[in-house]
Amino acid sequence: MSAALTLHGVHAGYAGKDILHGVDIELEQGGALTVVGPNGSGKSTLLKTVVGLLRTSRGSIALQGTQVETLNAPARARLGLAYVPQERNVFANLSVADNLRLGWEFLHPRTEGSARRERLDYVLQLFPEIRDRLSASAGLLSGGQRQMVAIAAALMQTPSLLVLDEPSAGLSPRNAGLLFESIARIRAAGITLLMIEQNVKLGLSAADRGLVLVAGQVRLLAPAQELLADDRLHRLYLGAPLDASETH
Ligand SMILES: Nc1ncnc2c1ncn2[C@@H]1O[C@H](COP(=O)(O)OP(=O)(O)OP(=O)(O)O)[C@@H](O)[C@H]1O
Ligand SMILES: [Mg+2]
Repeated sequence: MSAALTLHGVHAGYAGKDILHGVDIELEQGGALTVVGPNGSGKSTLLKTVVGLLRTSRGSIALQGTQVETLNAPARARLGLAYVPQERNVFANLSVADNLRLGWEFLHPRTEGSARRERLDYVLQLFPEIRDRLSASAGLLSGGQRQMVAIAAALMQTPSLLVLDEPSAGLSPRNAGLLFESIARIRAAGITLLMIEQNVKLGLSAADRGLVLVAGQVRLLAPAQELLADDRLHRLYLGAPLDASETH
């Protein structure tokens, strides 16, 4: 079976200037990979390149064995990729129910209402906290609940690969913990996860592998639990160079 996501030598950036310098990633079906790294290291740029908002200047990207680097973001979504950006990820003036409905209708136009309701039930099992808030305006929810709505709406697309940019940003430790309980349920449901987390401990605890991106390059890639205990992770965050022998 093909990997859920494969990147080979990916370069990408803005206005002709590369930010990513040859990134390689292989994410197996059902796997969970968390990307960490200092501010400005290119983490969001990496996700935007994976989902098709930015084009590669060099290198290749495949989703389940299909080359996608020439496809735009909606075409990649139709191949099973759903993306939740860090900010402005819900329609604040629409109800929670309408946000979820739009997530469904984006990829399932002209389907029976029963199929949507079945999916909605499934998604609400993953996010029980928003079940009672369906008629509320998404913009009036707590930050934690709003983030749950954003991820739930992405899941209404029935993706096989879910891409999350800093899901816990701006949340209290309690709400971040609750959100990650939902993320653990999503992972248990077999959906492949690629996420960025600035909360390194929380983000790596939810993944099976962790990747440290520094200055647009993969500096460390290891099982998440190993990385959490790895002194090199902390040194990279502090900007200290590693010896060549230490990067593998
Ligand atoms: N739209 C843009 N146009 C030009 N340069 C950009 C743009 N977005 C990001 N950059 C630059 O690309 C580099 C990487 O930014 P990126 O947002 O990918 O970093 P990041 O690792 O996600 O950082 P953070 O942890 O702060 O979210 C930075 O130097 C940033 O200034
Ligand atoms: Mg970012």
